[in-house]
Amino acid sequence: MVKPKVLITRKWPAEVERQLQGLYDVTLNEQDIPLSIQELKTALQNYDAVLPTVTDPMTSEVLMVENKRVKILGNFGVGFNHIDVDSAKSQGIVVTNTPGVLTDCTADIAMLLLLMSARRGAEGDRHIRNHQWTGWRPTQMLGHKVTGKTLGLIGFGRIAQAVADRAHFGFGMKIIFFNRSAIAQEIIAKYQAVQTSTIEEVLSEANFVSLHCPGGKATHHLINEQRLKMMRPSAHLINTARGDVVDSKALIKALKYGWIAGAGLDVFENEPNLDKDFLNMENVSLLPHLGSATEETRIAMGNQVLKNLSAFFAGEEPEDRVV
Ligand code: DGY
Repeated sequence: MVKPKVLITRKWPAEVERQLQGLYDVTLNEQDIPLSIQELKTALQNYDAVLPTVTDPMTSEVLMVENKRVKILGNFGVGFNHIDVDSAKSQGIVVTNTPGVLTDCTADIAMLLLLMSARRGAEGDRHIRNHQWTGWRPTQMLGHKVTGKTLGLIGFGRIAQAVADRAHFGFGMKIIFFNRSAIAQEIIAKYQAVQTSTIEEVLSEANFVSLHCPGGKATHHLINEQRLKMMRPSAHLINTARGDVVDSKALIKALKYGWIAGAGLDVFENEPNLDKDFLNMENVSLLPHLGSATEETRIAMGNQVLKNLSAFFAGEEPEDRVV
């Protein structure tokens, strides 16, 4: 039997690439260079399955290309706002993602950024490396205490709940959150959390605000100038969701003019070309989209794509089908 042709758009953990090679006629991206729009279009014309990730803009233009062979996009990642799902649907292309397996590691990165921002971790590291440290002082580099403070979560899905778990049970934090739909009472009770009816309530009450909503049109610049001004001047904003959920220009103003105390960012508008103004600010902690970046999680993500592909090519419904 002829094996389905599969393209992996970026370099994956070797053990998952090997497994895929055992099952399909696989093309790897050894150089790990992102595909151009034209290369993505050609991929859809030449492969049965394309396995894209967050760096591949599967736009309407790409998905509408003529003479397609592709039947499934097995996305490597939970977020799929880089895939125009309406176009995929209209073209009869199945789309799957990898929920669940990156929950803990992404929640860890949110806590890491929260702590870095509150306790000025990255700034302290720079201080030492720049040979500026003259020794301990009672008033040197004072940050904000985390234990017992209020954490506000925007979105309360798997990752937000894992952050709540760490913050509430590890740091005794009070949890308030905004989520579009109602959350089960037993989950709310577990964290002694409060679900607010508006985003604004979270922003004005929380000492730390962590974003956990999906990217896309509906959440584009959800955190804008007006909403940043509603936050406490001592508050910190953490973003491990998607860069364009926050208006970067507005955030830069907020950090510069003291509308908020700090921010911790793992995701950016127009990655990797983030706004250069961030680079010159001490009160923002920056990470290069590391949310799911552990060996264990990246292997698990690859295995999950593999599981979805196997189901699809066996004529079954893939577990993580989003389209
Ligand atoms: C995702 O899965 O959506 C992350 O942003 C990349 O792991």
